[in-house]
Amino acid sequence: MCGIVGYVGEQSAESVVVEGLRRLEYRGYDSAGVVLVDDGRLVGDKRAGKLANLDKALAEAPLPRSTIGIGHTRWATHGPPTDHNAHPHRGQQGRVAVVHNGIIENFAVLRAELEGSGAELLSDTDTEVAAHLLEREVLAGCTLTEAMQAVARRLEGAFTLVAVDAEDDTRVVAARRNSPLVVGLGEGENFLASDVAAFIGHTRQALELGQDQVVTITRDAVEVSDFSGAPAEGKEYHVDWDLTAAEKGGFDWFMRKEIFEQPRAVADSLLGRHDDTGRLQLDEIRMSEDELRDVDKIIITACGTAFYAGLVAKYAIEHWTRIPCEVELAHEFRYRDPILTRDTLVVAISQSGETADTLMAIRHAKEQRAKVLAICNTNGSTIPRESDAVIYTHAGPEIGVASTKGFTTQLVACYLLGLFLAQVRGTRFGDEIAAVVDELAAMPDRLQQVLDDAESVYGLARELEGARSVLFLGRHAGYPVALEGALKLKELAYIHAEGFAAGELKHGPIALIEPGMPVFCIVPPRGRDFLHDKMVSGIQEVRARGARTIVVADEGDTSVEPYADVLLRVPRSSTLLQPLAAVLPLQLFACELATVKGHDVDQPRNLAKSVTVE
Ligand code: F6R
Repeated sequence: MCGIVGYVGEQSAESVVVEGLRRLEYRGYDSAGVVLVDDGRLVGDKRAGKLANLDKALAEAPLPRSTIGIGHTRWATHGPPTDHNAHPHRGQQGRVAVVHNGIIENFAVLRAELEGSGAELLSDTDTEVAAHLLEREVLAGCTLTEAMQAVARRLEGAFTLVAVDAEDDTRVVAARRNSPLVVGLGEGENFLASDVAAFIGHTRQALELGQDQVVTITRDAVEVSDFSGAPAEGKEYHVDWDLTAAEKGGFDWFMRKEIFEQPRAVADSLLGRHDDTGRLQLDEIRMSEDELRDVDKIIITACGTAFYAGLVAKYAIEHWTRIPCEVELAHEFRYRDPILTRDTLVVAISQSGETADTLMAIRHAKEQRAKVLAICNTNGSTIPRESDAVIYTHAGPEIGVASTKGFTTQLVACYLLGLFLAQVRGTRFGDEIAAVVDELAAMPDRLQQVLDDAESVYGLARELEGARSVLFLGRHAGYPVALEGALKLKELAYIHAEGFAAGELKHGPIALIEPGMPVFCIVPPRGRDFLHDKMVSGIQEVRARGARTIVVADEGDTSVEPYADVLLRVPRSSTLLQPLAAVLPLQLFACELATVKGHDVDQPRNLAKSVTVE
């Protein structure tokens, strides 16, 4: 949700900043802008629309060469996406410029105060007040660092601010509270960004910052303080992926590339999780076995796709551990006053680790003294940092706005957690756990088999280009898969799509079925025959009303053939692990349908990747 970049070094700041924005555009693409320091003045440009509009403007009217600058790509909160609401924003005299991610909650009061003392604010944004306040401090004689500390103390809400001063071409200064910011450590150059992707082409050394910190970068130094100016420290780490992981590698979309990366991402997320004897070991979990034995309730909290991963996890965790498990949307969690005790384990699932709703949920859980475990794909992000324990997924960077490998690797982490709890508490025998772990190890090959047949899903998507509405049905662990299939289609193809538990259909939604309406049906494997047979009955019910059934079923399941207008096969898996494979055709379908409709698959309208506002 908004991408921000700051640079100081020897290279052209314009190229470094614009290139960084390109890699952060998944965070917001309503407008983009850049400001450089040039010989005692600020120069820059900003444009509504995607970064390409800024690129064009910069090509037509090049900026002077400078080695220090800041940039922003916006997901609008305050004020529509216009040129004048685009960042950076400047103070009254144009001496200080600032970019911002987050929401300054007390901006109306601050704006009234500034206007009361004669300031003229030009935009509708909350950000502009920060630019004016910073400039006033600087004009009063403060360094930009001191100004940032003073202003940060006055702001309420969530913010990362990055600023430059026209009369100081040595430093870029940032502050962070509840919004992401990471420092890239180079040789004779340093970087600031919302995400390491912005500078990964220049350095893989990064510095993680804490909450309520101000950081000043110069060419050769990085200084961190708290908002009062007292020295503080960040935590240095090495980024374990490189530029190639952040590029499309021959695919038309990041999303398609990420779909095809899933066999590797799942395999990587399983690496090193058990010892030579086959016992699971989750070293990073940082909770003692006694603490895990004491857990008497699990609440999984997440949003969107991660929430659906949590719904699958509930089936697996309750089955293997017999611990009651609830799943709650993070933005609903704290408002319903959940019952939490020291023995409640709250599991927060978040690909980005920065989703504000999920972050607020875990803070609420911690206030109530519950233990919090994060499942996260982004090293050093806020949610795992504020949790008691973490299981990292190893999906690599997920850049396509629609989550794909994020989902499947979250499933893997949830399975590992459930099995680990079963091992610690003795609710499953060692050989039963080992059998599931072996099956998990076989899943990457099965996923690859589904992907090898992508063409048949693409053909179907092309055929259904004109569909106005698509339904998805599932049961048990297949129900969240149906929800996820519908979400992918809504967010990418912009058509009406809904996922239902197949048994619920006859309680109302079956009225939606019209002749020819495409209905995806996720059929559980045989083995739990009662479940399988109920799902087949559900397919018959919609078919009898004229639906066109697209059946996702195990290889070898011939019983569904008479009821399938289209049959998409997935390799045979156990009921609980089937979602890993069954979701792939749905991801491929949504990606292709959006492509044939001419939509921007990586940057769907109105969305942003990392939702850092509540
Ligand atoms: C959908 C999607 C979103 C995210 C949700 C949570 O394709 O990507 O629904 O899953 O915004 O994001 P994280 O996992 O980063 O907390």
